[in-house]
Parts: sequence; C-alpha cells; structure tokens
Amino acid sequence: MTIMAESRPDLIEGCRLPVLLSNGEEWHMAEILSKKEVGGRNIFYIHYEDFNKRLDEWVSEDRMDIGRMELPRKDTKTPKKEGKAVNGTTSRSSSPDRELVNGSAQKQKALVARKRKTVEEDPDGQPEPLPKIPRQTGSMVAHHDDIVTRMKNIEMIELGRYRIKPWYFSPYPQELTNVRIVYICEFCLKYLKSAKCLERHLMKCLLRHPPGNEIYRKDGVSFFEIDGRKNKTYAQNLCLLAKLFLDHKTLYYDTDPFLFYVLCEHDDKGYHIVGYFSKEKESTEDYNVACILTLPPYQRRGYGKLLIEFSYELSKFEGKTGSPEKPLSDLGLLSYRSYWSQTILDILLNLKPNEAGERPIITINEISEMTSIKKEDVISTLQHLNLINYYKGQYIITMSADQIESHSKAMAKKLITIDPKCLHWQPKDWSKRGKW
Ligand code: ACO
Ligand code: ZN
Repeated sequence: MTIMAESRPDLIEGCRLPVLLSNGEEWHMAEILSKKEVGGRNIFYIHYEDFNKRLDEWVSEDRMDIGRMELPRKDTKTPKKEGKAVNGTTSRSSSPDRELVNGSAQKQKALVARKRKTVEEDPDGQPEPLPKIPRQTGSMVAHHDDIVTRMKNIEMIELGRYRIKPWYFSPYPQELTNVRIVYICEFCLKYLKSAKCLERHLMKCLLRHPPGNEIYRKDGVSFFEIDGRKNKTYAQNLCLLAKLFLDHKTLYYDTDPFLFYVLCEHDDKGYHIVGYFSKEKESTEDYNVACILTLPPYQRRGYGKLLIEFSYELSKFEGKTGSPEKPLSDLGLLSYRSYWSQTILDILLNLKPNEAGERPIITINEISEMTSIKKEDVISTLQHLNLINYYKGQYIITMSADQIESHSKAMAKKLITIDPKCLHWQPKDWSKRGKW
C-alpha cells in the first residue's frame, strides 16, 4: 500500500490567501507580490486587498492561512514572467502595462548602473544622484504601477529626532536599499548611508533652515519659499524624501519649473521640517499645489490643513483661484474636503441678512472669489455636504442644526491658522521672465 502525502501547493507570486494583520487579531485577504529568502526562511511581500499600498509588508508563513490559499488566476492576459526586482527578490508582472513600464524601469536601472560605475562616491558618503529623466507634468507625475516601484525599498529613515517607516517606493540610489536605516540631514535633506556619515556631514553642514526666503513666521512656525531652479539639490532631495510617502507619483529630476513651500517648526536648534507643498511657477490648469505632504510624525495635528490654507492664501495674493493637481490620494482628498467644507461653511454661516431681513444671497462665484477655491471644488463641496436644494424654481442652501453644531466644534478645535498679515511675499509673473 502506498501512502500519498498530500502535497502543499507552492506559495508563489500571485497567490491569494488570508493573512493575519499586524494587530494580531484579524485576517484579511492578501496577494503575494514577491518572495525572498532571509536566514534560510522564505518571507513574502504581500498586498492586502482593498487596503492602501502603504500597508503592504513582508510577512512570514506563520501569518498566512495556507489552507485557504487560492492559486493565481489563470485568466490574466499577461503571461506570467519572472523578473528580478530591485533588491534581488523575484516578482511577478501582472498586467500588460506593467510589462511595458517594467521594460523602461529595467532600462532606467541599467542607465543608473552604468552611471554609478563612472561616478565616484561623494566623500561624505552620499551616493551620487540618479540620472536626469525628462519631466512630464508636475514635479512628480502619475506613474503606472510596476513591480519595482510597487514595493517599498527603504526600510527606515532617520530625520532629525525621528525614525520614520516609509510608506512607498522612492528612487534613492540602490545601495541605500540595503542599509537598515537611511540617515537624512534634517536641514539640507542630504541622504547618507550611516550614522557616522551623518555625523561627519553635520560637522560641515552649516544650514539650520531650508534654503530660500522665509516668507511667513508666526506662532513658532515658518514657511520658506525655495526655487527649484536655484536650489536644485535641496529640491531633488525633498522630492526623494516626499516620494516615500506619496503614492501614484513618479519622481522626475527637473525641479526648475517648481517652487517649494516648506513648513518648519522652529526652536533653539533650528528650523525642523514638518511638511511642504510644491507649486508650478506657471500652471495652465490653475493648479496651486502639485504635491503636498505632512511628514508622518507631524500628521493629524492640523498641519495638512495649514499647508492647504497657505496655498490658498498665496492664490489670494495672486488674485487667482486654484485647485490641487489630480489625482488626490485618499488622505489628500480627506484633507482637502475638510478644508473646503470648513472654509465654505464659515462664509455661509457668517452671511448677514440684508436690511429688509431677507435671506442672505451669495453666488458660487462669490464664494470662489472670497476663498480662491476653484468654482468646481466649491460646487463639489456643497454637493458633498448635501447643502444644495432646489426649491420653488431656485437653488437654495439649507443647513441643519447638526451641521452648524459640528462646524462650530471643528472651528473651535482648529489649533493653528494662517495670519495673512505675517505673509511677506510678492507674487512673480513667471511668464514674463523668459527662462525661470
Ligand atoms: N485617517 C483618517 N483621517 C485622517 C488621516 C488618517 N490617517 N490623516 C488625516 N486625516 C484627516 C484629519 O482627521 C483631518 O480631518 P478633520 O479636519 O475632519 O479633523 C484632515 O484629514 C486633515 O488633517 P490634518 O491634520 O490637517 O492633515 P495632516 O497633517 O495629517 O496631513 C496629508 C494630511 C498632507 C494628506 C498627509 O496625510 C500626508 O502627507 N499624506 C501622505 C502624502 C499625501 O497623500 N499627500 C496628498 C497627495 S494629493 C496631492 O499631492 C495634490
Ligand atoms: Zn546638511
């Protein structure tokens, strides 16, 4: 008699199975994107279905419900092909798009590899920058989701007094993907591969604030305006750092057409970067923000809305309306929705009845002019708040007592706002400048 051992199917890229979340309590369906061997043991890079990519992680078999594994779907149009990803792991391409982008990513990597061979490393230990790639739109552009950029490549960064776990891929030089911590100078944003290199760098680095002009200061926070052409290295380092927390954007190295507004908290040690937004010097689409970021240690404290408020304050000074560059991320949309709603509700609630005691009247255009929020965003906000009603042949805005109360509570919670009197800034007409 022969006993047939029931063989377990291989855990390969493309398999789906429940994975125990890091809270150790719930299981969630996930897809294996990649696998590698560490200390003689396989670990798997997984993406939780319907969750944001920032939650993707490496897990070991003990967090996987292998009994409920589903093999890769056979109906995918792309033939399964194994490719080497950045850090020597094997990975799957799952769509024709990915194949294409993968191809260009490979070419780009080859280019980087070639360049790396010819350029000596900076004595500080900062690996040389990547080659320049032409810009499409924005300092970062929407990219296709290829397997290289789909996986986080930096384990941890140290920035000032914080250690921060990155959320997404960023094209730092490949040798930094092999170190446990990437050390970043919190003032000039130079990246270094060891604490020793950072220590050496800090003895020479004279910056204690971002380069450029301090154009706003109040309540312990400041904004610096940095020209992406004049301070190219800083701007590129800022983009690399930001990409760790920004998905759906590919980073390009032509920072010339952008201004960067860096928000800092200051104390006796210097100006500590909290977040930033970038803005095209000239935008044909009325964008007043290209990318916006609050660094994770500072998130959920109102700084995101402060950055947004500042961007609209600049638009007011320019006498223009503006809107953020699309697509917005999940958190970007939440923050903009919240800022737009609060700003518009504040205007509506402060409208006074006219002398005859009639209901106050305001047009969408007037709201847009007062706030510099683009008309389309005013309309979408009013719709989202469900405030517009059609009544006796005209549109009227009605607010419930609950809405008024929750708005008042939100305003009372607001910790910090922009004081336009503290903004020392003159808009420039970049179209008249020939070359930026
Ligand atoms: N979960 C749920 N709600 C959240 C979260 C979260 N993780 N983070 C922020 N919010 C909500 C806040 O509760 C707040 O809502 P409320 O006003 O109703 O209370 C609102 O979003 C804004 O909160 P802030 O504290 O002002 O914003 P924060 O400093 O956290 O920054 C930002 C928001 C910039 C989007 C930040 O999350 C971030 O940098 N994310 C990564 C980068 C990113 O996605 N940027 C936007 C891309 S789109 C573009 O660039 C144009
Ligand atoms: Zn420095």
